Amino acid sequence: MERLGVVGCGVMGAGIAEVGARGGCDVIVVDAVEEALDRARVRMAASVEKAVAAGKAAESADAILGRVTFTTDLSALADREIVIEAIREAVDDKVELVTRLDTVIPDSAIIATNTSSIPVARIAAASVRPERVLGTHFFNPVPVMPLVEVVASVQTDPDVADRTQAFCEDVLGKKVIRADDRSGFVVNAILVPYLLSAIRSLQNGVATREDIDEGMVAGCGMPMGPLRLCDMVGLDTMLLVSESLYAEHLEAAFAPPALLRRHVEAGLLGRKSGRGFYDYSDQQ
Ligand code: 3HC
Repeated sequence: MERLGVVGCGVMGAGIAEVGARGGCDVIVVDAVEEALDRARVRMAASVEKAVAAGKAAESADAILGRVTFTTDLSALADREIVIEAIREAVDDKVELVTRLDTVIPDSAIIATNTSSIPVARIAAASVRPERVLGTHFFNPVPVMPLVEVVASVQTDPDVADRTQAFCEDVLGKKVIRADDRSGFVVNAILVPYLLSAIRSLQNGVATREDIDEGMVAGCGMPMGPLRLCDMVGLDTMLLVSESLYAEHLEAAFAPPALLRRHVEAGLLGRKSGRGFYDYSDQQ
């Protein structure tokens, strides 16, 4: 597969489009909001230039970026072989998108959802061809983190899952693990309780945000502290993921802490809004 479509160009969508272009794909990125496309263009150019400067890209930045087209028109995806959706983590939005994609893309094209926590079967059920729908869960920052979880739902054709795994490995250069179709798959079912417990520690006054983060970096060798990681993922995404995991598993470890809700209600969404648990206003 060489013709890739990406719908939604926030941090994840832009990252997926970038690795697709670096893997040699012709990439069309679709977002309903023109400004989101502009931001993605800038983000992707900066990331590709960083990769080129670090000797991590086989081609020039111009050659890579020249393979990416940005548009607000979903019908531009009419000739795609695989479309990866990375819109916000809300089941109704993803369901609506899948029904629209059904009317646009070829019958043979694969629809992959980059959901963090919504069971794939729930999204696939909206499609008239649920056998060609599956999950591909990437990790942030996509150009740097090697993993993709490939998730077949109860209706996914095994050949679709095998072809998608081969695409992620051979074209996108990712490591793939297969995960069952349950909220959180493998990684978030383990990672999210850890991140929420760091938020609870802050909420309960156990230590300062800096000491909680330093504890996990200097004590456990984590590449970054859990509160900084929450800010990087986005606190709105953390809340949606936590709610989805809690609804599926009904375990207290997945329940969103009040402090997380308060930040989201206040519009403090992490790095992307300039402030979350930390202040990033000087980095905007
Ligand atoms: N393309 C390719 N490589 C790049 C790159 C790019 N655009 N940008 C950076 N790199 C490479 C660098 O060259 C460097 O490689 P090296 O180790 O071989 O020298 C490496 O990536 C690290 O880059 P930096 O030195 O710029 O950055 P840091 O060392 O500060 O690391 C970090 C930044 C990678 C974000 C690190 O802190 C980290 O790994 N944090 C944890 C991230 C994490 O846990 N992500 C998962 C989040 S959960 C998720 O996404 C799931 C969702 O559903 C919630």
